[in-house]
Amino acid sequence: MDIYKIKGGKCLNGEVPISGAKNAALPIIVASLLAEGETILKNIPDLMDIKTILRVLEYLGAKSEMDKEKNILKIRVNSLSNVEVPYDIMKTMRASIYVMGPLLARVGEADISLPGGCAIGERPVDIHLEGFKAMGAKIEIEHGYIRARAKKLIGTRFIMRQVSVGATMNLLMSAVLARGETILENCAMEPDLVDLGNFLIKMGAKISGLGTDRIIIQGVKKLNSVSYSIIPDRIEAGTYLLAGAITRGLIKVVNVVPGHIESLIIILIEMGFIIKRGKNWVSIKSQNKIEGTVVRTLPFPGFPTDLQALIMSLMSTIPGISVIIETIFEKRFTHVGELKRMGADVTIERNIAIIKGVKELSSATVMMSDLRAGSALALSALAANGESEIRRIYHSDRGYEKLSEKLSAVGADIIREKGGKN
Ligand code: EPZ
Repeated sequence: MDIYKIKGGKCLNGEVPISGAKNAALPIIVASLLAEGETILKNIPDLMDIKTILRVLEYLGAKSEMDKEKNILKIRVNSLSNVEVPYDIMKTMRASIYVMGPLLARVGEADISLPGGCAIGERPVDIHLEGFKAMGAKIEIEHGYIRARAKKLIGTRFIMRQVSVGATMNLLMSAVLARGETILENCAMEPDLVDLGNFLIKMGAKISGLGTDRIIIQGVKKLNSVSYSIIPDRIEAGTYLLAGAITRGLIKVVNVVPGHIESLIIILIEMGFIIKRGKNWVSIKSQNKIEGTVVRTLPFPGFPTDLQALIMSLMSTIPGISVIIETIFEKRFTHVGELKRMGADVTIERNIAIIKGVKELSSATVMMSDLRAGSALALSALAANGESEIRRIYHSDRGYEKLSEKLSAVGADIIREKGGKN
């Protein structure tokens, strides 16, 4: 098991290039199943989660080839030879549920292992299933599997009772080949979803309303395989801006869409950081008077839950009191125990965290519990005195391309060591 060793206290300085968005790449890779032929995807990050979703596609009969140097992925799809996603794959990645939409739309059948809860919450998929039912699919749950059947999905009007990124994506991917018009209401508006929609439009889908809470889809008979470039990863961009903030350095993230991280920029300015931005870059610099603030996680364009753990690390180094209200996932405070071991002063009351800034964080041996909790620990280690050891870094390999290389390039003292303790 690899570990990170981070010596804190270095002020980070320089430019960080941002990779393609994991959470856009995953559904777009799956959406390639909707057409026969060769799909070419550019700006695909080289991540564990991408490898896992490609295993799922292979299982269903697609072939893929990734050029890691150029971040280009080629996917070849002919007929689909399998309609099942077994437990062993689903348990490694919940996003495997995305194949349900394309399978139902193209083959009319899907047998998908029901995803269980994970570190950040129970994470049901009932809204996905309600949507498929509304489009005429028969759904049964037996022996831990979702068995879905539909001769032909029929367009309908479906109101999601809660904003869900995954359900909106899954239903969008099935509606593009359904008969007639589908109107999805209370949709997610995340840039990743808009990117998926733009990819589907390039394939020949008829979609309007992307980026609003009402998406209208006119079903078409057939889609074509195309070439497409994935948007930059806004959560990765936010992570490096926060690394700049917590080390009171000067970091510029490049190859980003500044509008995608507007909610973070607003909070950082409110705290007193100096932010500059251009067409495809954002920079952050510290100044003497930095203060705590209140953050509430919300669906896009609100503050992303995926940056909640990271901003908590920053808040724990800022004088005064800060507050975080987590409204998306019920258990997304798993990082708090480990942050406290590094000297953070955090009190949790239901979904509210109260953070008292401390003078200094102290290095410790800590353990990642999920992807974003893990990067919060890395940020705290960058600011702490002494050397921290971070274990279970396979969580961070799921979603951060070249994390240690990118941090070292801007002055962090971080090494990745093989064979550490788990
Ligand atoms: C996506 O998860 C992301 N994952 C998550 O990123 C992200 O944290 C989340 O959206 C919120 O932004 C991917 O894109 C692969 P949801 P998703 O459906 O789609 C409830 C990361 O670190 N809900 O928007 O699973 C659900 O329990 C990951 O990169 C239902 O009740 O999130 C949650 O409380 C972690 N029933 C809320 O909705 C459903 O059928 C929002 O979840 C679906 C969701």
